[in-house]
Amino acid sequence: MAIIFNEKEAVFNLCTKNSLYQMKSDSYGVLLHTYYGKRTEPVDYSYLICKRDHGFAGNPYEAENERTYSLDVLPQEYPSYGAGDFRRSALKICRADGTCALELRMAGYEIMEGKYSIPGLPAVYAEEGNKADTLKVTLKDTREELYVHLYYGVMEDLDVITRAVRVENRTEENIYLERVMSTCLDFSYGDFDFLTFYGRHEMERQLSRMAVHHGVQSVGSVRGASSHHYNPFVVLADQKAGETNGECYGISFLYSGDFLAEAEHDQMKQTRLVMGIHPDNFRYLLEPGQDFWTPEAAMVYSSQGFEAMTHAFHKTVRNNVCRGKYKNARRPILLNNWEGTYFAFTGEKLLKMAADAADMGVELFVLDDGWFGKRDDDYSGLGDWYVNEKKLGCTLGELSEKIHALGLKFGIWFEPECISEDSDLYREHPDWAFAVPGKKPMRGRYQLVLDFSREDVRNHIFDQMCKVLDHAQVEYLKWDFNRNISDVYSAVLPAERQGEVVHRYVLGLYDFLERLTGRYPDMLIEGCSGGGGRFDAGMLYYTPQIWCSDDTDAIERLRIQYGTSFCYPVSTMGAHVSACPNHQTGRITPIDTRATVAMSGTFGYELDPAKLSEEEKEEIRVQIERFKKYYELIQRGEYYRLTSPFEDNCYHAWEEAAADGSEALVSVVAKRCYSNMAPEVVKLRGLIPEAYYEVHCITENDGDRKEGGGYPGAALMYAGLPMPRPGVEYESFQYYLVKK
Ligand code: GLA
Repeated sequence: MAIIFNEKEAVFNLCTKNSLYQMKSDSYGVLLHTYYGKRTEPVDYSYLICKRDHGFAGNPYEAENERTYSLDVLPQEYPSYGAGDFRRSALKICRADGTCALELRMAGYEIMEGKYSIPGLPAVYAEEGNKADTLKVTLKDTREELYVHLYYGVMEDLDVITRAVRVENRTEENIYLERVMSTCLDFSYGDFDFLTFYGRHEMERQLSRMAVHHGVQSVGSVRGASSHHYNPFVVLADQKAGETNGECYGISFLYSGDFLAEAEHDQMKQTRLVMGIHPDNFRYLLEPGQDFWTPEAAMVYSSQGFEAMTHAFHKTVRNNVCRGKYKNARRPILLNNWEGTYFAFTGEKLLKMAADAADMGVELFVLDDGWFGKRDDDYSGLGDWYVNEKKLGCTLGELSEKIHALGLKFGIWFEPECISEDSDLYREHPDWAFAVPGKKPMRGRYQLVLDFSREDVRNHIFDQMCKVLDHAQVEYLKWDFNRNISDVYSAVLPAERQGEVVHRYVLGLYDFLERLTGRYPDMLIEGCSGGGGRFDAGMLYYTPQIWCSDDTDAIERLRIQYGTSFCYPVSTMGAHVSACPNHQTGRITPIDTRATVAMSGTFGYELDPAKLSEEEKEEIRVQIERFKKYYELIQRGEYYRLTSPFEDNCYHAWEEAAADGSEALVSVVAKRCYSNMAPEVVKLRGLIPEAYYEVHCITENDGDRKEGGGYPGAALMYAGLPMPRPGVEYESFQYYLVKK
């Protein structure tokens, strides 16, 4: 059992392969957080707590005159608002009488085999063969029958600990939840950096690393989606931590709506990290007898830098978050028509694209936006999910049949959550879109957002989608969401429940996706929100891949995919080769470089094949074969960030290596090129030091390296692999290494 309860000391120990997480119920029943770090013997770590009177640090009544006992400085497991801890709290409630003070004390615990799940919300699950246990610790309000159940999932072999919270109102009165965070980590000692992933549309998940300083630093979203702007994944790291050294703690929030992560450095130089639903758009009414579950947070501790943390997250996301047939099945190599045609296509044009794609070895043709309702631009049509047969020149069934006859699978784009004002659906049900009474709503990309917290709205869209999907052979669906949510007001909820709408919206989205995946279990769904505007582990529970960014420029993608890789594996990152000059940046890059970058993703194409030269088509054929050959290594190997694209070097390099070190694929992109370049080496990782490796350059140019030479793993890892001189700007190279 990975959960050890030391009854005498009232200490809970949660043990994973490499970490130990500890909490203790003290003599007043306060649940203290005593340790999270490298796995050791489960000694009672409360010896580290130094009790002193720090002044202006109040004492709970039951501590009588013990002025050294203050919740304001003690490390706590789940600090509540209004009980003498003036730091950021994990829980704030408001009672019917207007009081908010909440004192929680230990009321019981339960240790269970297996991993808990959360009704209606995504959660890490145990696969056959995983060791998983659950601890539930129950805290109770000292005044009333209000219970807070803290859930811990201990995934021993995965090195992951998950947390979620259930608040239960057994009082006779209404209670409002104003802030219910999913996790809180208190560290009494240490200087930390806070790593966050910020961005914008077409430039998501840029790494930011800042020292945690006195005060509160936070990232979050109040956009109704996890957002392009900050990702619900953060890392607290020792200031000296790097890829392969130092301690770090990663937290991934499995939720696709508003979130908040706050790091506070307090008066005693202690650090607290809380993460959960953003309280700004949240006020949840709990009537007597009702309960509320928070979404889940998954945490990984690494004593060996970011790389080990990343590997644990990759494994967990791939095997214990993603679900369905395509969790393991090879994803088809696709061609999406969006950048090739935008809205301007006919059925005939699509078939020509599909035929050319099939000829190059593509396996799936995806018809993007513009096939439904009145939709020749983005002003109209959303909400009218019936096929525009006039535009296609045939039914969707016929189109998909013809595409299948070419040997391709067929996929289609939807944006189920949005509605255009110029649509039949809006004319019929204007109240289905979010709008605050008496105020004109904000438009985003000319469109409004449907109230997905409403079951009737969801049912209508679901039925429309099924009609389309049932009348054509569709193996892939792209689920898009092209704006953020504002003007939140649900016409069917009373005033006191309007603060729940954004969360209920996310629950509605999950409910819809659960139904859709249940009805079409063999369909591959790719998430998307104007690219990577909802790239989070919550969505990945329903859609095993997400379009990483609307920015398809290979050089910009280096940074986007690098940032994304800290938590999310290659198999989740939608990445395509697009045309040049690139539509977003105007940059010209070799087609091989575009493929090298897209291959460390789900891989596909997003261009009009009619505009390719015969030479380029031939190159694509070779790329597709290359991708298929190294698919397993790329998608299931361990991912190594060999360099950082944010550093001032000429090359960016990364590697996928077999877990046993028997083979590896190294990809290198020359970010810059200048005359008389200084030589650079890149140190590889994940190899066996004492083994010999053949190094094969599998792209065109290898500079002056000798093909197939044998190098010891130790040399390649500790001395490095010299980088070739690029022959053209932005040239890329891929090396396949195999143990002799
Ligand atoms: C979003 C997506 C694109 C494309 C368009 C269609 O921007 O990210 O890939 O599907 O919508 O309108």
